[in-house]
Amino acid sequence: MKTWFITGASSGFGRAIAAAAIAQGDQVAATAREVASVEHFVEDYPLQARAYALDVTRPETIGAALEQARRDFGSIDVVVNNAGYGLIGALEECGEDQMLRQVETNLMGPLRVMRAALPIFRSQGGGHFINLGAAAAISNYAGFSVYGGAKAGLELASEAVAAEAAPFGVKVTVVIPGPFRTDFIGRGLEKGAESRPEYAGTAGKFGAFLEKVDGKQPGDPAAAARAILKVAAAERPPFRLVLGKYAYQKARRQLDRARAELDAWEGVGLATDFPA
Ligand SMILES: NC(=O)c1ccc[n+]([C@@H]2O[C@H](COP(=O)([O-])OP(=O)(O)OC[C@H]3O[C@@H](n4cnc5c(N)ncnc54)[C@H](OP(=O)(O)O)[C@@H]3O)[C@@H](O)[C@H]2O)c1
Repeated sequence: MKTWFITGASSGFGRAIAAAAIAQGDQVAATAREVASVEHFVEDYPLQARAYALDVTRPETIGAALEQARRDFGSIDVVVNNAGYGLIGALEECGEDQMLRQVETNLMGPLRVMRAALPIFRSQGGGHFINLGAAAAISNYAGFSVYGGAKAGLELASEAVAAEAAPFGVKVTVVIPGPFRTDFIGRGLEKGAESRPEYAGTAGKFGAFLEKVDGKQPGDPAAAARAILKVAAAERPPFRLVLGKYAYQKARRQLDRARAELDAWEGVGLATDFPA
């Protein structure tokens, strides 16, 4: 039996992961900005679930929730950095405060959670971070510069944390979903403060596409949760787990493109070392 600590458990992936973990008999610390939105887990499964208030942009709430969960459950095996939201708009359309909030939530938030949980994992002799990345960090779209930038930052920061914490038995996995049917677009997606006609054909088009696919995304959050449970149970979990056919094909195309570009510019790049 594992104990899960999940940020943003009020909806979408977070809620689905909490429900799936409970269904397999695990214990869940379900956290949310509004604790009332996760209390149903405790009402329905009083022996397995606890609810805590946690806003990833408020560091004091992270430490308090982790400490309380550790006291309540004795240990924490899996920390899921799920909380996050999207900001859609060309860079020129996004406001300074919007960009800061986005990086604060999607990059600083999970970094803070990992930093606060690491002493617990070290003292236990291990633990598993499962961090929600994004297909926008495989290769990005017009209109997602800040969102994809924050998620790419989280992915590479996670790789460093994996190397730093491996000696303590800590594992790290970045989950990379394509489009999944959650509240990400409908409720979660923030629009750039300005709308500039110059970007109608690029960022504007992508924003309109997102609105159109809302509710019809191919990815099923319950199936994603089952995949994440499998990863958490694995002796040697992957560092990256790409979810859904859309993201999987995108990742393959990106690998091919990157290899071709590396080959095409090999001569120019390799000529920059001092002569041996
Ligand atoms: N769905 C997709 O297609 C997709 C694709 C790639 C990556 N992702 C990533 O998956 C993760 C979960 O998103 P989702 O798709 O499940 O969307 P969602 O249904 O909108 O859920 C997002 C969750 O994050 C929480 N949250 C937002 N800001 C927070 C903050 N400052 N502190 C704590 N919690 C906060 C929300 O809580 P409230 O209820 O308080 O708002 C909500 O529980 C995100 O990191 C997202 O970027 C989603």
